Amino acid sequence: MSYVWIESEADQQNPRSVINTMLAIHDSRSGFHPHWVDYCRKNGIPYKVVDCYANNIVEQVKDCRALLWHHSHSDPRDILIARQILFALEHAGLTVFPDFRTAWHFDDKIGQKYLFEALDIPRLPTYVFVERTPALEWASTTDYPKVFKLRHGASSSRVQIVRNENQARRLIRRAFGRGLPVYSPWNNLKERIYKWRQGQSDAIDVAKGIGRLFNPPRFSKVLGRQTGYVLFQDFAPDNDSDLRITVIGDKAYGVRRWVRPGDFRASGSGRHLHGPEHVDIEAVAMAFRLAKKLGSSCLACDILYKPDGGLAVVEVSYGFRFRGNSPGFWDSSLKWHACKFRVETWMLHLVLSDLDRKEAPGRPGSSLEKD
Ligand SMILES: Nc1ncnc2c1ncn2[C@@H]1O[C@H](COP(=O)(O)OP(=O)(O)O)[C@@H](O)[C@H]1O
Ligand SMILES: [Mg+2]
Repeated sequence: MSYVWIESEADQQNPRSVINTMLAIHDSRSGFHPHWVDYCRKNGIPYKVVDCYANNIVEQVKDCRALLWHHSHSDPRDILIARQILFALEHAGLTVFPDFRTAWHFDDKIGQKYLFEALDIPRLPTYVFVERTPALEWASTTDYPKVFKLRHGASSSRVQIVRNENQARRLIRRAFGRGLPVYSPWNNLKERIYKWRQGQSDAIDVAKGIGRLFNPPRFSKVLGRQTGYVLFQDFAPDNDSDLRITVIGDKAYGVRRWVRPGDFRASGSGRHLHGPEHVDIEAVAMAFRLAKKLGSSCLACDILYKPDGGLAVVEVSYGFRFRGNSPGFWDSSLKWHACKFRVETWMLHLVLSDLDRKEAPGRPGSSLEKD
């Protein structure tokens, strides 16, 4: 069986071959799901919508060869079972998106520290302690500033600067004492006020932030207070922005994200510039190399400059918000293609070509399981 599908939204045609493999898509109106469903429907790709939260999800996908689920770091149900379901099905031979190598470290900065070290990824030195005494000893001998992060978090919500030993000691005592919440309602409110001032949101959003002071989101209860570890990282000074490069298969797009005024953190600032004139092509090349090395089919990398001028990856994520406002993409030979595109379509293509590969005689293996 072989699949032919549209290359981009700009050149839409119906797939020319018969596709008789059933794709399962998680039932959700958010994230990548609506476009996946839409694309399958318009292109005659057999699919069914499944409820991954139901007890019988394994039964539901019995007649399917692939499952796609854009699970989120901030949905308590996804945190609890998404990776377990996807990886169990992958274990049993199903093609899944995202697959194990792409997603085991999602929203897990501790996992990423060890992964980057193990694969010798260009990075910033990162220090993890799961015992209080070595952490305090380290704090008394290291230099400052350092960056303190929780294992989980997005949009810079749990990333802070540590200027001296006293501040580090206070964080260490708290982390090995009553712990730190993954969600800070005050930081969240400040962030909403910042976005409102920037014209990126409205007063209703700020009011919601006030409500959050009394009713934190459920995912923060599921994750609980973070206790028993600390994570510090060398501070990379003089970065007025970071580069967010997203690689999906053999395509990538990128954005420069400016830091918030008077701050060092770019993620979540909402101040973005897309396209080749704003993005260092070296960072794009590095992101392609990184995706290959990690065996990731879908990878959004946050990249900074180190003090010696080299590039360093600070975070990778399989999942992200796609707004569709990039003016084009690079292919893996770093050639720029100016066009409109949808990342969801690229993801579907990866899944379909993986199924195609599995079908091809004498060619087991999977594009989503690269070495
Ligand atoms: N070690 C560091 N030195 C300087 N800036 C950093 C460092 N780590 C992160 N940042 C800044 O903080 C932002 C958020 O950090 P990141 O680790 O990506 O966490 P999040 O999961 O919240 O996005 C980054 O986008 C970057 O601008
Ligand atoms: Mg980040």
